[in-house]
Amino acid sequence: MPELLQKDIREERQGEAYAPFANDANEYTKKFYIESYGCQMNFNDSEIVASILHKEGYGATRNFEEAHLVLLNTCSVREKAEQTVRNRLTTFRKVKEKRPGMLVGVLGCMAERLKSKFLEEEKLVDIVVGPDAYRSLPDLISEAEGGQKTVNVLLSREETYADISPVRLDSNGVTAFVSITRGCNNMCTFCVVPFTRGRERSRDAASIVAECRDLFEKGFKEVTLLGQNVDSYTHEEVNFAKLLEMVALVSPLLRVRFSTSHPKDITDEVLHTMAKYPNICKYIHLPVQSGSTRVLQLMNRTYTREWYLNKVKRIREIMPDCGISSDVISGFCTETEEDHQDTLSIMELSRYDMSYMFSYSERPGTLAARRYADDVPTDIKKRRLEEIINLQNRLSKDSYKNDIGKTFEVLIEGDSKRSDAHWYGRTSHNKVVVFPKEQYPLQKGDYAHVRIDEATQATLLGVIV
Ligand code: SAM
Ligand code: SF4
Ligand code: F3S
Repeated sequence: MPELLQKDIREERQGEAYAPFANDANEYTKKFYIESYGCQMNFNDSEIVASILHKEGYGATRNFEEAHLVLLNTCSVREKAEQTVRNRLTTFRKVKEKRPGMLVGVLGCMAERLKSKFLEEEKLVDIVVGPDAYRSLPDLISEAEGGQKTVNVLLSREETYADISPVRLDSNGVTAFVSITRGCNNMCTFCVVPFTRGRERSRDAASIVAECRDLFEKGFKEVTLLGQNVDSYTHEEVNFAKLLEMVALVSPLLRVRFSTSHPKDITDEVLHTMAKYPNICKYIHLPVQSGSTRVLQLMNRTYTREWYLNKVKRIREIMPDCGISSDVISGFCTETEEDHQDTLSIMELSRYDMSYMFSYSERPGTLAARRYADDVPTDIKKRRLEEIINLQNRLSKDSYKNDIGKTFEVLIEGDSKRSDAHWYGRTSHNKVVVFPKEQYPLQKGDYAHVRIDEATQATLLGVIV
């Protein structure tokens, strides 16, 4: 994987969620265009928004120049993510000058963070809607059509959009995201999410299972259960382990993934449930953030270095072949060279297959911004990040090389980007596999057994056996 992609993949994932239902577009009288930034949960929210707009007679378009309504679903997690949105608005400003009737809406975490300030700072914006207020979009649009600028950033303790069936945007028809919790109660000091997404709440299990079953009946073969901290899922009598089992039982042919696991909350019960069901993917995204207990404490992650390493050990005891990935932050407040070395060594000891790596970006209003000085100079943050990326590149290379000669079950997601004579798919451990189609009558959504012959740092190459 190119370094840049590894480094900042969440910010690289931008503007991908165009609604693609081109055939439907003619049936609708009005057209909307939506672009999404940030995490998978935000992309899934755009699918909920698309569903709400569908009911209001809005069809999606990939061309914002013809849209009545242009929406940006935004992210605030790092300053760069917000800057990207500001730059993007400049493009829309030019279009709006030519077509003053076009409405521009800002959704998501940046909307929640800036509230009505957004309207003052960006004159072209007509509508500002926070993550818990999407049901009010139709009313806000009507008001905006009447010339009124509108804002709804109320956070909710109950909203889970459980009854709204997401319209799958730009879907490959094989894999889909299903949100199981919203918000976060954790208060990691660096993080803006608890402020933009509000208190954690879990969606009822029956609606989650029904959505997964419906996806399977429509031909999907993999669901990823989403939450900022999936392991703290709890609704009535159902905990996360039980929910995983309920979804795994929809069909042995439906793969189940989940993200993100907080190291403090993932339990043995979850690990044993994963081990018990072959269709629960053997892959855990277990963000460490730092390898120094002192820094982890300042981050309010509530675990120590030793505790984290024990968790990794436990995962490998219960599932020796489980893939593990991480998020790592360089240059958090007060981080010393020794702390940084602790981060490098915990990465090495955990043998991550992959990591998302960032340098610390102070976010206004967070606990860290209020309590600590952002005192690691930019060039040091950058140099440490580079060392983190270089180490991860080596770990990834080792991990992928180690798969040569093994045979994996691969779920085919589509043609390889480089050649339509090759399939593209993933192993249970979330590694990308590319292999020639040859004469086999396979299609997207099928499982293939592939023997790995070659490996790069982010792709396995093999042949069907
Ligand atoms: N809930 C997940 C967790 O606990 O790991 C993910 C939350 S956040 C959306 C994704 C990642 O962004 C975090 O794991 C962290 O590494 C990174 N992140 C969050 N705030 C950051 C900040 N202020 N500066 C740099 N990276 C940040
Ligand atoms: Fe942010 Fe921490 Fe919550 Fe993750 S667990 S969303 S890093 S506060
Ligand atoms: Fe960004 Fe909000 Fe997700 S801040 S990472 S879009 S929860």
